Amino acid sequence: MPVLIDEVLRRAARGRTAPYLCRAEDGQLYFVKNRVLARRELAAEWVSSHLARALGLPLPAFCVVEVPAALVDPAMGDWLADLAPGLAFASRYVESTEPTRARMAQVPVAERVRIAAFDWWLRNMQRRAAPGPVGIRNLLWQTDPSGSGRVLLIDHSRAFDPRFDVSGFLATHVYGADLVRLAADFIDRERLRGEFVRALDVAATACATMPAAWRQVDSRDECAFLAQLARCQADDVFWTSAS
Ligand SMILES: Nc1ncnc2c1ncn2[C@@H]1O[C@H](COP(=O)(O)OP(=O)(O)O)[C@@H](O)[C@H]1O
Ligand SMILES: [Mg+2]
Repeated sequence: MPVLIDEVLRRAARGRTAPYLCRAEDGQLYFVKNRVLARRELAAEWVSSHLARALGLPLPAFCVVEVPAALVDPAMGDWLADLAPGLAFASRYVESTEPTRARMAQVPVAERVRIAAFDWWLRNMQRRAAPGPVGIRNLLWQTDPSGSGRVLLIDHSRAFDPRFDVSGFLATHVYGADLVRLAADFIDRERLRGEFVRALDVAATACATMPAAWRQVDSRDECAFLAQLARCQADDVFWTSAS
């Protein structure tokens, strides 16, 4: 059963679609999206988040929530127009600060490599510098009272990008340079590729368990993303070609 939303508080101050911060019946806060994304983007969020979690990458907890129609009635205000009643993707709110380049450079190299390789696998070009001082898109810098921090991945709505291009990815991804180093290290890259192969089952299960309204309608695959993910089985070309 999806978690029920109790209250819609505000929209995110940044981002392409500015998801809605909501309080849910479990007492937790979530950033919630449905109407702001196409169905393939919701599916991409769902499948990518499951894969990230299975690989032990850092990301906020996520789930499907249900938005009651009464909370987003047009009479409640225009600002709610991008939140539809029904099911939505929810990312558990995390206290965080600017994901600046300087903070992102504090992330240990081994973790940077995993993040870059994950985005390579998922053809996600959106983890890159934003214009202006706000730092890197689609990362959070979670702070704790001791003053230390850690990076979290968010927003996989544009993974499985049909316009993915290798040179653009390497030039703009926050950890593109780490991926280039990984690709030159046969042992490490093959270990990571093996992890991806073992996670393919997780993607298949995520496809099977996503809300029906997010599934691809015009594909013979149960989930069109599975064929793209299967690239990781090709040991000869996976790290050198995006196709
Ligand atoms: N789980 C979360 N915890 C804290 N802030 C979040 C979380 N999810 C999203 N945000 C905030 O909302 C912004 C937009 O979220 P994002 O998922 O990137 O959607 P989009 O880019 O489509 O608007 C983020 O840049 C961040 O500031
Ligand atoms: Mg975003």
